[in-house]
Amino acid sequence: MSLGRATNRENLPWVEKYRPTSLDEVYGQNEIVNTVRKFVEEGKLPHLLFYGPPGTGKTSTIIALAKEIYGKNYHNMVLELNASDDRGIDVVRNQVKDFASTRQIFSKGFKLIILDEADAMTNAAQNSLRRIIEKYTKNTRFCILANYAYKLTPALLSRCTRFRFQPIGPAAIEQRMNNVIIKENIKIDDAAKKALLKVSKGDMRRVLNVLQASKAAVEENEEITEELIYDCCGMCRPGDVKKILKSILEEDFTSAYYTMNKICQEKGVASVDIIEEIVLLLEEYELQNEETRIEMLTKLSDIEYAISKGGNTKVVHSAIISAIKTSFENESTVAA
Ligand SMILES: Nc1ncnc2c1ncn2[C@@H]1O[C@H](COP(=O)(O)OP(=O)(O)OP(=O)(O)O)[C@@H](O)[C@H]1O
Ligand SMILES: [Mg+2]
Repeated sequence: MSLGRATNRENLPWVEKYRPTSLDEVYGQNEIVNTVRKFVEEGKLPHLLFYGPPGTGKTSTIIALAKEIYGKNYHNMVLELNASDDRGIDVVRNQVKDFASTRQIFSKGFKLIILDEADAMTNAAQNSLRRIIEKYTKNTRFCILANYAYKLTPALLSRCTRFRFQPIGPAAIEQRMNNVIIKENIKIDDAAKKALLKVSKGDMRRVLNVLQASKAAVEENEEITEELIYDCCGMCRPGDVKKILKSILEEDFTSAYYTMNKICQEKGVASVDIIEEIVLLLEEYELQNEETRIEMLTKLSDIEYAISKGGNTKVVHSAIISAIKTSFENESTVAA
């Protein structure tokens, strides 16, 4: 039996296998963890709202907290709902009603309702929710999870104590990453670790997914390299972006366009990622005329916005090249 369980856990994707089982295993969110623990110790848990970018530990923190509060009573005392499931507010209302109104046989205290991905709810649904929250406040606490607080209605916001989950800091990510590397017996060089930290951008889910994919791609005793990390997440290598930028600045439009398309096609890189890397690289450039930088960043951010609305890759590539070329042409005329 226990062997069976162990094997099951082995087969899980690493994001689930390494999901924190207690608040101590939540990395890089110490202030939030300490505050919510204090609420529980004082027996004054308010309705909570956790919001912030993906993979920063919102779901993990509330589940770990609930496990600490309820232990083996978890399933009687906690209701997990996913608001982005294709269900109307009526279903949510009925489930909450059934759950909140059943008697608590096993333990005293509040029941907890976790409402994940609440920013996917319509405004009408959110408005109904605030009634529901009020109605059951006597014996129930809600924890609302969302990526964007601005997508929630003010009425809902004002009923909760808000916590913003920041992207996890590099030191915390590194610590967690090193744990997993040891547990999974992974061979990985330092450059690859650095690359992984860089591509993660504070998202722990991404670290675990890329690490698992890279491990699957190498032989038993082979080392994971920087190249492989970039390959596994379809990100552009810094060297490639330098090549693209050099070509834009030093060659004519057609050559720059050719270089950019070729690299993007070969490495499967998305245009948004190129823009992001180019912006980082450009920060290091000393310009004679600061206006050049302002003009260029404005143009690039417009292009980035346009990509989010859907755009043709080739048109986007031409736009990036034009944006940089025209801005730099102004620079040289001013310099002359
Ligand atoms: N702070 C953290 N400490 C340790 N592991 C974490 C942390 N944040 C995320 N993880 C890892 O990433 C996985 C995903 O985290 P989680 O589901 O908590 O993210 P989330 O913030 O709820 O993201 P989303 O907004 O996409 O729902 C977890 O299973 C866990 O393995
Ligand atoms: Mg979540």
